[in-house]
Amino acid sequence: MRLALAKPIEHVHCRSNRLKDISMNAEVSRDTAGTILIIGASRGIGHAMVAEFLNRRWNVIGTVRAGFWTELHDLAEGHKGRVEVETLDINEPDQIGALRDRLSGRVLNMLFVNAGTTTHDEHVHVGDVSTEEFTRVMVTNALSPMRTIEALQDLVSAEGLIGAMSSGQGSITNNEKGMREVYRGSKAALNMFMRSFAAREAGTPRVMVVLAPGWIRTALGGPDAPFSVEESVPKLVDVLLSQQGKPGLQYLDREGHIVPW
Ligand SMILES: NC(=O)c1ccc[n+]([C@@H]2O[C@H](COP(=O)([O-])OP(=O)(O)OC[C@H]3O[C@@H](n4cnc5c(N)ncnc54)[C@H](OP(=O)(O)O)[C@@H]3O)[C@@H](O)[C@H]2O)c1
Repeated sequence: MRLALAKPIEHVHCRSNRLKDISMNAEVSRDTAGTILIIGASRGIGHAMVAEFLNRRWNVIGTVRAGFWTELHDLAEGHKGRVEVETLDINEPDQIGALRDRLSGRVLNMLFVNAGTTTHDEHVHVGDVSTEEFTRVMVTNALSPMRTIEALQDLVSAEGLIGAMSSGQGSITNNEKGMREVYRGSKAALNMFMRSFAAREAGTPRVMVVLAPGWIRTALGGPDAPFSVEESVPKLVDVLLSQQGKPGLQYLDREGHIVPW
């Protein structure tokens, strides 16, 4: 998937010059509703979230994995002063620390970890999956989002929002059909870790959300999903914006309805 989007690597090497141009346009970015950092914004839902937050007058910092020209780079070129492209592989703790250092002094109104993955065979039973595959999915979907949130949370304003992209399949209560077992387990683990994080934040004005976006046609969701990115992402952004000023953790679907844990 990433190779299909790739442009020659030398374009990526120009990125630092382009970011200088963006910071020179700081005047433009002052007319803004806020700043959100979206982790995992190269394509799919994350990329569309960047575009939608721009529509809502937000400035966006989006992350991609290094070495590939992505749809986010194209979006940044069309919105100078309002989109910054940062690099992060969430499975590389050193890169999380480096991003934290680069963003030092910035104030975020929202931090949203969208990055996620699934098993190559989505129907593999948990007892049959290789340890390597299990580890890759669990680390990417549960451990790495939490490491990212823990490392970057102090950049978020006191009453700001910290969110992560979960899934309806992370609901233990609603799991009556099984299927996608490893993916389900990884998102249930993410939900549990977010609840632990939220317990530590109890009594603060911090807003926290785990989202269940619905089944959406992306590389991960596949072609049979009932919902398009275009119809889904404005709803997801509505839900995040609606939570501002509401401290505590919520597990919400695309309509803003509570999902049972
Ligand atoms: N589509 C659905 O039906 C659906 C339903 C429920 C939940 N979700 C969740 O929604 C989120 C986005 O999914 P999507 O459907 O948009 O999938 P997608 O098109 O496959 O995009 C996945 C995104 O995650 C990034 N990513 C994966 N591993 C990463 C890593 N180690 N470090 C940094 N970025 C990484 C990818 O970056 P690269 O381009 O570098 O690979 C890409 O930007 C995921 O958390 C997914 O579990 C999706």
